[in-house]
Amino acid sequence: MEPKIVAGNWKMNKNLQEGIELTNDIINKANQVPDDVTIIIGPPYIHLEKAASLTKDSKIKVAAQNCSSEEKGAFTGEVSAEMIKSTGAEYVILGHSERRAYFDETDELIYAKIIRALKHNLKPIVCCGEKLNERENGNHFDVVKSQIQNTILKLKEEDINKIIIAYEPVWAIGTGKTATNEQAEEMHEYIRKLITEKFGKEIGSSLPILYGGSCKPNNAAGLFSQPDINGGLIGGASLKSDDFVEIGKLFK
Ligand code: PGA
Repeated sequence: MEPKIVAGNWKMNKNLQEGIELTNDIINKANQVPDDVTIIIGPPYIHLEKAASLTKDSKIKVAAQNCSSEEKGAFTGEVSAEMIKSTGAEYVILGHSERRAYFDETDELIYAKIIRALKHNLKPIVCCGEKLNERENGNHFDVVKSQIQNTILKLKEEDINKIIIAYEPVWAIGTGKTATNEQAEEMHEYIRKLITEKFGKEIGSSLPILYGGSCKPNNAAGLFSQPDINGGLIGGASLKSDDFVEIGKLFK
């Protein structure tokens, strides 16, 4: 069965009270989303324990938005994979383009974070995607290929089934400018080909690849109907329970 996943990335939004309200709203509406769709919410660290306990008896899973590459110790302000796991969260978003752009995260660091997350049984949602100038120069396939080669393709086969990939063209994030269904599908197909070449057909065809970048209720159905798109990583629209739940209903 093809995976169907709708994952929210709240980014640096919602104080504790607002986060609890949004989590409860999504829980209350989640039964509108078909049972075969996995719903993941990605609040800031401060919400993780509360979000995990509120969603415990629901079908909603919780993701952190980042973790440290280090195990523990004198790294002021950092949060470890083990700490995240102890909150009840099951996933962690890694390598988001905002982390790459504003916090200088390299593929090397992202790979170290993936390994750390896997060690603590957190499932990484690994982001990749090209910038506008890279697409305009026709380099988008090469950019994404090297991001995937430096991270996912270095993993052991037994870890690959714990990974979700999110293709997020940077020019589409928060801009209201979505990739067309064709632009998204051709990159997803390409990523799947890279995975299949390395790990074989079974893993290649079952690995979830989400699209992210201005994915909204008015465009998700077209994106999700593409053969290599298994759902969405949703930023802005994940902050409104109605929009987020609506997107979860738009799988074929
Ligand atoms: P957006 O963000 O849906 O607001 O474009 C997506 C993301 O950054 O994950």
